[in-house]
Amino acid sequence: MSQIQYSFHKNDEYRTPAYAVYPILKRLKKDTSIWCPFDKNDSQFVKVFQAYGFRVVYGHIQTGQDFFTFPVPPCDYIISNPPYSRKGEVFQRLFELQIPFAMLINFQGIFDQRERFEMFRRQHIELLWLNPRVNYDTDGGQRKGTRVPFQSCYLCQGICKQQLEFEYLDTSLLK
Ligand SMILES: C[S@@+](CC[C@H](N)C(=O)[O-])C[C@H]1O[C@@H](n2cnc3c(N)ncnc32)[C@H](O)[C@@H]1O
Repeated sequence: MSQIQYSFHKNDEYRTPAYAVYPILKRLKKDTSIWCPFDKNDSQFVKVFQAYGFRVVYGHIQTGQDFFTFPVPPCDYIISNPPYSRKGEVFQRLFELQIPFAMLINFQGIFDQRERFEMFRRQHIELLWLNPRVNYDTDGGQRKGTRVPFQSCYLCQGICKQQLEFEYLDTSLLK
């Protein structure tokens, strides 16, 4: 799907707060490069990784870099929060690329669809569970005082030591 064909999908526009980037940051090797394929320069993935000395390449459909067609830049990791409406295709491509990756996802229903279930069953994946729930930034800002409706986790390959890991989030961390 090209940039022109891409139609805005409301459920895809959930921006990640900085505090949710830290659990993955500490699992990365120093002096490495990261591709953030669903991100612009205001993304907290980009900002936090750059602040900690990683080489970051980023791109976004709105700036003409379609994850599905854009040439893969040389990188050690692929890390982001992908568009939820295309999660199946995103993971399919990530498995094909065989570059260690971590994707922060809404876990709701991720294993429901039969084809996706089969795809994950065949792969060695790692899950990094987070507590409390990630309160994403939407265009209206973060939800205040209301319960975040879904559980997020990082679905990874080649990043975590164990297949199941757990991490508390420090929601006071801004940078
Ligand atoms: C869930 S948002 C996350 C944004 C950012 N990664 C963050 O965590 O703050 C996913 C973003 O991917 C963009 N997107 C959708 N399809 C894309 C594609 N094919 N290639 C690159 N970006 C895409 C959406 O417009 C959306 O802004």
